[in-house]
Amino acid sequence: MPIEIESPEQLGYSTIKYNLTESSISDTLFSDIQLNINDLKLCYGDHLGKPELRKLIAEDFPNLSEENVLITAGAASALFIVATSLLDKKDHLIVIRPNYASNIETPRAIGCEIDCVDLKFENNFSISVDDIRSKIKANTNLISITHPHNPTGIIIPQDTMMDLAALCEKNNCFLLVDETYRELNLENNYPLGASLHNRIISVSSVSKAFGLPGIRIGWLISQNASLFEKFLAAKEQIFLCNSVIDEEVAFQYFMKKDVYFKQIKEHILKNYQTVMDWISAEKRMEMIKPHGGVVCFPRIKNTELDLKKFYEILNKKYETYVGPGHWFEMPENYMRIGYGWPTNEELKQGLKSISLCLDDIKE
Ligand SMILES: Cc1ncc(COP(=O)(O)O)c(C=O)c1O
Repeated sequence: MPIEIESPEQLGYSTIKYNLTESSISDTLFSDIQLNINDLKLCYGDHLGKPELRKLIAEDFPNLSEENVLITAGAASALFIVATSLLDKKDHLIVIRPNYASNIETPRAIGCEIDCVDLKFENNFSISVDDIRSKIKANTNLISITHPHNPTGIIIPQDTMMDLAALCEKNNCFLLVDETYRELNLENNYPLGASLHNRIISVSSVSKAFGLPGIRIGWLISQNASLFEKFLAAKEQIFLCNSVIDEEVAFQYFMKKDVYFKQIKEHILKNYQTVMDWISAEKRMEMIKPHGGVVCFPRIKNTELDLKKFYEILNKKYETYVGPGHWFEMPENYMRIGYGWPTNEELKQGLKSISLCLDDIKE
């Protein structure tokens, strides 16, 4: 099944007044970034990706250089490359769930053995290394997590990340950390997984934090040279090289990234506060406080409510959309609220719609 079948881009953005489904900031306008691409030669690009862009990406992290960075077509293709390079029918995968759909659907299509470790609201959605250890088998080749976690916005403590890397080393497997929301952290910076250990593969992109999903630029970072070569070979089989236009736009944006990001950060901090104010007043719902990403994953306390009706009314009467629980293989009383995309006023109205909708269905 196409994973994005209910996504706003498929439904049509014009049908949605209050869009709280997105896990990103809103899309950047081409005219808002000063670009000069007139001299660009429309040749095949470097198979690894534009070297200057790789260098800029690596610069943010200690221990890493452009040698460790492979440019991909969005994080989506990086995840596909990792899954198809590391998993076979005979392999075993451990998925920390909820996870991004591709991190489950591609391995399912490959036909490998999959075990899920479910994060629980009751445990503050925190990751237990012991739970993961208990699922390890002789044929485990990959453990997969999203960080900041999608859809809860939870951050993994560095000690836990190191314990997971050590677990992978001991069992000769790898840790895939989908860090697509990385720059959208609300507090201090935390280390990139791949900069900590050569058993960790980090994936990210320009889509979520910089509002540039239309240029399809992402990357895969690994300190493991043989693994890196495998990923390059997979990239070449799928699309040879990236679009040089996309790479150039990302490169020029990255040169001024800090300037553009200042405004973005102010916006997400303001919207974060709006969500926190709303949830502390909305007693019919509860939430584990997010620390990163621009998403949170509250739940309706009363599971007896007609939740099908709830989403119908929310969408039709209030023209408000959130990511319902089934997007994440979770019960429908959970919902992902994305607070980076809407303006502050739209967010306030969207959250109010959820409360009004709860009034409506209890009647
Ligand atoms: C956790 C996560 N990983 C990867 C992706 C894919 O992003 P991209 O646009 O970089 O391909 C998404 C998009 O929704 C996501 O939420």
